[in-house]
Amino acid sequence: MDGNGRWAKQRGLPRIAGHRRGVEAVRTATYAARDLGVSMLTLYAFSVENWQRPKTEVGALMRLLELYLKNELATFVRDGVRLRTIGRTGELPEGVQKHLRTAVEATKHLTGYTLVLALNYGSRTEVTDAARAYALAVAAGQENPQTSSWTTFSRYLSTAGLPDPDLVIRTSGETRVSNFLLLQAAYAEFVFTPVLWPDFTKPDLAAALAEYARRERRFGLTSDQLRPPIGKAAAN
Ligand code: FPP
Repeated sequence: MDGNGRWAKQRGLPRIAGHRRGVEAVRTATYAARDLGVSMLTLYAFSVENWQRPKTEVGALMRLLELYLKNELATFVRDGVRLRTIGRTGELPEGVQKHLRTAVEATKHLTGYTLVLALNYGSRTEVTDAARAYALAVAAGQENPQTSSWTTFSRYLSTAGLPDPDLVIRTSGETRVSNFLLLQAAYAEFVFTPVLWPDFTKPDLAAALAEYARRERRFGLTSDQLRPPIGKAAAN
C-alpha cells in the first residue's frame, strides 16, 4: 500500500493525512476485492523496516491501526470478513494487540472471505523465525530433516494455513518487492500501478485483475503442456 506520503505531499498535507486516507482505501479495497470474486486479500500495512520511520509517524500509524480495528470489528462480523494477521504481532503496542486478538477471535468461524493484515512483517524475519522453530522441532524429534519438504517447512511460516498469493499488486509506481511474501510469491503474478494507495479504487483493482487474467501461468511447464494443441490431446 505505497504512496500515502506522496499523496499527502502533493496536497501540502502532513504524511499522516495520507495514511488516514490510506485507511479509507483499505476499506474500499476490502469490499471491492470481495465483490470482484477474490476470496483472500493480504494488505502490507506495516513492515519490520517501518519502525525506523520518525517516531511520530510510527505512533500515528499504530493509533490509526488501533482505531481501524476497533471501528471495523462489527462490520467484519456483519459482512462475514475473517481477519488474520501475518508478522511478529507480539511486538506491536499492547492496545493494537488486544484489538487484533479480539477481531481474529470474533471472526475465526467466518469462511466466505479472508482479510490478512501483514503487520510488523518482513519475509527475512519470517524465514529466520521459521528456521529457528523448525530447528527446535528437529531437536525435539518432532521433524525429520531427511524427509522434510517445502510443505513441511512452510508450516513454520507466518502464513501457515494460507494459500500462496496469485497476484501481488504494488501501488505508487514503485517496482520493488520490499521483503513481502518472497517465498510465497514464488509463482505469483505482479502488477505495478502508478496509482497512489489513497487513490486506489475498485476500478483500479478490476484493472489489475483483468491484467492478471490475461497472463499465462505456466508454473515451469510449457504452454503446450497446459493447453495441448487440438488433436494432440486426443493422440495422447
Ligand atoms: C507506505 O506508503 C504505507 C505505509 C508504510 C503504511 C500503510 C498504512 C495504511 C494504509 C494505514 C493503516 C493500515 C490499516 C490496515 C488500517 P508511504 O508512507 O511509504 O508512502 P510514500 O512512499 O509516498 O512516502
